[in-house]
Amino acid sequence: MANIVFGFGSSHGPLLSTPPERWDLRAADDRKNPEHPFRGKIYNFNDLVEARRSEKDFFHESSLEVRQDRYDRNNAATKKLAERLEEVAPDVIVVVGDDQHEWFFEDIQPSFTVYCGDNVVNSAIDPEKFKTKSPGIALAMSASHPPQDQIYPVPSDLAHAIIEQSIRDEFDVAASMKQRSNERGVIGVGHAVGFIYRRIVRDRPVPVVPILINTYFPPNRPTAKRCYQFGQSIGRAIAAWKGPKADTRVAICASGGISHFVVDEDFDRRMLTAIQNRDTKTIFAEPENMFLSGTSETKNWITVAGILSETNLRMNLVDYVPSCRSEAGTGCGMAFATWE
Ligand SMILES: [Fe+2]
Repeated sequence: MANIVFGFGSSHGPLLSTPPERWDLRAADDRKNPEHPFRGKIYNFNDLVEARRSEKDFFHESSLEVRQDRYDRNNAATKKLAERLEEVAPDVIVVVGDDQHEWFFEDIQPSFTVYCGDNVVNSAIDPEKFKTKSPGIALAMSASHPPQDQIYPVPSDLAHAIIEQSIRDEFDVAASMKQRSNERGVIGVGHAVGFIYRRIVRDRPVPVVPILINTYFPPNRPTAKRCYQFGQSIGRAIAAWKGPKADTRVAICASGGISHFVVDEDFDRRMLTAIQNRDTKTIFAEPENMFLSGTSETKNWITVAGILSETNLRMNLVDYVPSCRSEAGTGCGMAFATWE
């Protein structure tokens, strides 16, 4: 039988892999971006600075001194997660992430996808793709990509069990049986899974089931409630899975979040506390227009909360680090947690 023995959540934003003196590269992109979603409204950069002036001193929050502190704390937290995971040594990790036009594009964009091939490749950096990225993103790409292609086994019987259970539970989930390719070869698994395998699993070939949710792109983003319920269905599938041995130990991972690219500490603490307290009332009451852009990845955590809802594991917040890169408070609210 399989048992869920551990859970963990980690932000995966570019600032985790960018030295603090170079966070300005991403701030430069923010200044050019005319559409920053924040608390249900859309702002250009200058209006966002004005709107947040009384909230906090974001000039100070984005100073090099504070950035260095945030960077150090973020690194300490990812290291702690990596070490704890190594101690737990699960047989399988189910990673819940989102696809950001990595495997899925405008031709087809499923709301929920379970990858069920026999293995999955986290590919080395694609030099062609690297050239198309802004300097701030390109610098951070090394965090999700290994120096050489890495192949991870996928327990496809578990992936199929998750698909079959979700269909029984009335989720018409997409099944991805084969990694996509283009003219340069196989397209590696996306950043949400790649970051976790590079930085937290440290490239060990631990079997993985990638589950991808379209949190990001309209018009078919599942609601927070639906993500939680999908998580409950995944939890049922894992609990019923026979597994390859008498006691197969499964870990669950939430990848991404919390608020970005406008840091909203109130939202982050409200969501993290609600997830910690299993307070679905608060989670489901959050308006959907709070889950836009990168902040939508909070739904990966909500899905994991659903998966773990029938276990006796409890969330422990390793650290929450509001990491600002500009005077508008843009950046990422970084969160790191375990469920034990
Ligand atoms: Fe992301």
